[in-house]
Amino acid sequence: MGENVNPLADLRYAAAVPRIPEHAAAPNGHLADRLGRPLRDLRISVTDRCNFRCTYCMPKEVFDRDYRFLPHKSLLTFEEIARVARLFVLHGVHKLRLTGGEPLLRKDVEALIAQLAALRTVEGGRLDIALTTNGSLLERKARALRDAGLERVTVSLDALDEAVFQRMNDVGFAAADVLRGIDAALSAGMRRVKLNMVVKRGTNDQEIVPLARHVRERYGALAVLRFIEYMDVGATNGWRMDEVLPSAEVRARLAAAFALEPLARTAAGETAERWRYVDGGGEVGFISSVTRAFCRDCNRARLSTEGKLFLCLFADHGHDLRALLRGGASDEQIAAAIGLVWREREDRYSELRAAMPTGGNGSDGSARKIEMHYIGG
Ligand code: GTP
Ligand code: 5AD
Ligand code: SF4
Ligand code: SF4
Repeated sequence: MGENVNPLADLRYAAAVPRIPEHAAAPNGHLADRLGRPLRDLRISVTDRCNFRCTYCMPKEVFDRDYRFLPHKSLLTFEEIARVARLFVLHGVHKLRLTGGEPLLRKDVEALIAQLAALRTVEGGRLDIALTTNGSLLERKARALRDAGLERVTVSLDALDEAVFQRMNDVGFAAADVLRGIDAALSAGMRRVKLNMVVKRGTNDQEIVPLARHVRERYGALAVLRFIEYMDVGATNGWRMDEVLPSAEVRARLAAAFALEPLARTAAGETAERWRYVDGGGEVGFISSVTRAFCRDCNRARLSTEGKLFLCLFADHGHDLRALLRGGASDEQIAAAIGLVWREREDRYSELRAAMPTGGNGSDGSARKIEMHYIGG
């Protein structure tokens, strides 16, 4: 964008940006998109880098030594992130999640957590702050994160078996080290750690029951294991429908080993269907974005590392908030721009995917989607 261009113009809705006082920037959290969905959850990617090369997310052949990650100056600073996050909170957001890439690779990320934790007073204490990590640096960082005000983490863990896990992360990182990170998070006082397992048929589906057993036995109700259907995010992972193991099948395999019963939803817009072990061994979740899309209640916005606002995990473009931040826009203008973008939102990719002739692998000429390591999980 040229120097003399009004950054608001980038948001297309600039002409309609009203002058509104800061206290009314968005005041009551009643913002709704075109499908009537409120804005409740902001997922913030703090780096596009990762020290893993999970085959379903950052395949080595693409993300190699020559791959150009974002230069440091294009990343939002912590101050910029906190400023934008506050405006989202004023708009009704009560969940913030830091993602990446691997968020613990961002230098001093605990300083950002502390700035975000200070926003709890803006909203009267209802702000939930979480972080999704691959766990590799968790053992080292758990205490500092907790001290900065982080109350919960979600750790990706695709297998217990070392050979399977190391093949999936493709950098030879040990599952045992991730497990030590999980222990450290719990010892540091994080509540209910969530564990995310992306299930790929033929790759790690034999790990479903062993991993569930391990989590039950070691953590009981202190951890929740969630099984995620392998999704067609981005354009580099070579996604194929036949590698998706539908949640119904995952649940059937689990139910053959342990008695399960369904739990009621706790919040609208939840990604996971929750079940519990009848014997009190804790809870599990199923995230079925491919076979049972949950767009209907999707209240999530995503802020990319370089400050673009994405309205869907599968969006092909974002709205440049960094241009506003660095172009001298006031808080009211930025809040108004966010409001206008959200009111126009009608994304529901996963619902539409089901109707695509190729099931979403892009061979139908659909627009190039943003990569998961860039937009955040
Ligand atoms: P909690 O608030 O802790 O329950 O977290 P969450 O389920 O919102 O977040 P988490 O980051 O753990 O999400 C788990 C996985 O669900 C992600 O890694 C994605 O694979 C998937 N997911 C999360 N949000 C969306 C979404 O909006 N759309 C789709 N299709 N998948 C999503
Ligand atoms: N399908 C489903 N989940 C994915 N993730 C990354 N790529 C995919 C994919 N293709 C999720 C993983 C990880 C989080 C950061 O993103 O669950 O926990
Ligand atoms: Fe890194 Fe997470 Fe992507 Fe794996 S899924 S490559 S850990 S960002
Ligand atoms: Fe939300 Fe898009 Fe995911 Fe649907 S596909 S749940 S609209 S992020």
